[in-house]
Amino acid sequence: MPAYHESIMRDEVLHYLNIHKEGVIVDGTLGDGGHTEFILKNTAPGIRVFAIDRDPSAIERARERLSPFQGRVTLAHGNLADIKDLALQNGISQIVGALMDLGVSSPQLDTPQRGFSIQHDGPLDMRMDPSQKISAADLLINLSDAELASIIKNFGEERYSKRVVRSIRKEQAERPITTTSQLSRIVARVVVSSRHSRIHPATRTFQALRIAVNDELEQLKLALQGVIGLLSSTARLAVISFHSLEDRIVKTFFRDEQKGCSCPPKMPLCVCGGKPTLKILTRKPLTPSEEEVARNPRSVSAKLRVAERVYV
Ligand SMILES: C[S@@+](CC[C@H](N)C(=O)[O-])C[C@H]1O[C@@H](n2cnc3c(N)ncnc32)[C@H](O)[C@@H]1O
Repeated sequence: MPAYHESIMRDEVLHYLNIHKEGVIVDGTLGDGGHTEFILKNTAPGIRVFAIDRDPSAIERARERLSPFQGRVTLAHGNLADIKDLALQNGISQIVGALMDLGVSSPQLDTPQRGFSIQHDGPLDMRMDPSQKISAADLLINLSDAELASIIKNFGEERYSKRVVRSIRKEQAERPITTTSQLSRIVARVVVSSRHSRIHPATRTFQALRIAVNDELEQLKLALQGVIGLLSSTARLAVISFHSLEDRIVKTFFRDEQKGCSCPPKMPLCVCGGKPTLKILTRKPLTPSEEEVARNPRSVSAKLRVAERVYV
């Protein structure tokens, strides 16, 4: 069994969530349950956690870890995008805080059969929820050249996206692409990392495919919209993102919700009637300390943003 995922910035998350004596916290990305466990250990017994993950194996691992907190924790298999419906189905209409720790967990990355990792050979899968229909291998077959290049360019920020697609098509003309090591070799033929970079040349292509397979950016937008309706007054929302695409979505959402009004800047009076719903508490995102990055190199690109619910 792979080691537990090491929870990122857990002291900072706990501090910023500013949890009082009772109520429900939503952990929208349960993973190995590390943040949930830390919250439950460090808060009053009146605090309960409602936790969601789209990966059923994450739920099973976390269930065991969280068994000492029976009665204080409810786990649900589902998508963060459906956060409001999932909460309501579980009798929760108001929460006192929410955490979204985005991306993949260490067990997902470290289990070769899940197909997320460049380091381990496995099937080219990348589905967080294995009941989803489309895997990364399917995308390579089903997408047009232009669609694939656009995904690799936009979700991977890969400047050589067209070259990557040509290399993929050349291989597919000879044999199907079915494994992670095969894809990483194909990409490394045409993308060269700079001499000082420790990043594998296929990292950006893998990121792009993972985001596309799991529709991560659209799900994040829906999740942010959904959670607003659950947060009670002064409840806080903490989001940890791992790449600039996610962080931009969170930053823009927080800024728009703090502003409320969406009228064009030249409009002398507000006609849209939009009211602020959030107050931003982290003008700049928090990042892990040097000690944390040394202890857990996977935390290096993490950014934590926090906002507080306001009702005007
Ligand atoms: C970084 S891990 C969370 C780790 C966790 N905070 C811990 O301390 O163990 C992210 C988890 O979120 C899940 N996830 C990502 N996007 C999701 C979504 N849209 N809906 C539900 N779960 C999601 C992944 O399956 C993964 O288990």
